[in-house]
Amino acid sequence: MTTRSVQRPIPALAVSEGAGVTVHRTIGTPALKNLDPFLMLDHFSSDDPTDYIAGFPDHPHRGFVTVTYMLDGHMLHQDSMGNRGDLRAGGAQWMKAASGVIHSEMPQQSNGLMRGFQLWVNLPAAEKMSEPGYQEFSPEAIPEVAGNGMQVRLLAGEYGGQTGPIADPHTRVQYLDVRLAAGIGFDHALDPAATAFVYVFEGSASVAGTVLPRHSLAVLGAGDAVELTADAEGARFILVAGRPLGEPIVQYGPFVMSSRQEIEQAMRDYRDGRLVQSKASVMRS
Ligand code: FE2
Repeated sequence: MTTRSVQRPIPALAVSEGAGVTVHRTIGTPALKNLDPFLMLDHFSSDDPTDYIAGFPDHPHRGFVTVTYMLDGHMLHQDSMGNRGDLRAGGAQWMKAASGVIHSEMPQQSNGLMRGFQLWVNLPAAEKMSEPGYQEFSPEAIPEVAGNGMQVRLLAGEYGGQTGPIADPHTRVQYLDVRLAAGIGFDHALDPAATAFVYVFEGSASVAGTVLPRHSLAVLGAGDAVELTADAEGARFILVAGRPLGEPIVQYGPFVMSSRQEIEQAMRDYRDGRLVQSKASVMRS
């Protein structure tokens, strides 16, 4: 067994997105443009009841998958596939934008709190213009393994005999939300072929002697396992892994394609009202 160490620590950058929402971004910043197959990681967080959260009104996506995970508050959403709903705290949304989706995402506070993540996962070139798809998972559909000062929620991948509901055949994504009490250690086997990262969003944790403070991401080095230990105040983090696609990545805002020409096509299609080419069927669980 080779334990993965921290290859690069990346502190989050506060950026303004949508209609003036401040998000903590790690993947998709000058320090870490992308992390194949991951294109972006945003942590949105507000604990101020007086915050006005303007949200993300209608905007397009093409060429990848967005995975949204709500921790606190909830998110009203609506898309060009005809999906419309309210993603509750603890629930997750998997949206394959592929050939094109236009949607709105409007986070809402509950008791003054609103927290969550959005991760962008790339699609292989051959899938970028395929039919969009949508899956939504209620909080109850996300399995949880708890005990010994540890609580693990499984959005994707396996842990403690449970399997998360999100499955991505191209990258075999694993996505765990792990909460550890002070001093508690956590270890997990990882696909040696996968890119993997940890993002700490409560307390702090150590990976092979490197301390990861709150709001920092660690790109993990080579190996087939990871070991983390929560520091004195405990820790909560997401652990995400997926196989790199190894293809060219050309990004322009919400369009991520394989060539400049495909980006120009996406911009023309959006301008001409032809971005949405297919209204896929709704799938919920
Ligand atoms: Fe979006």
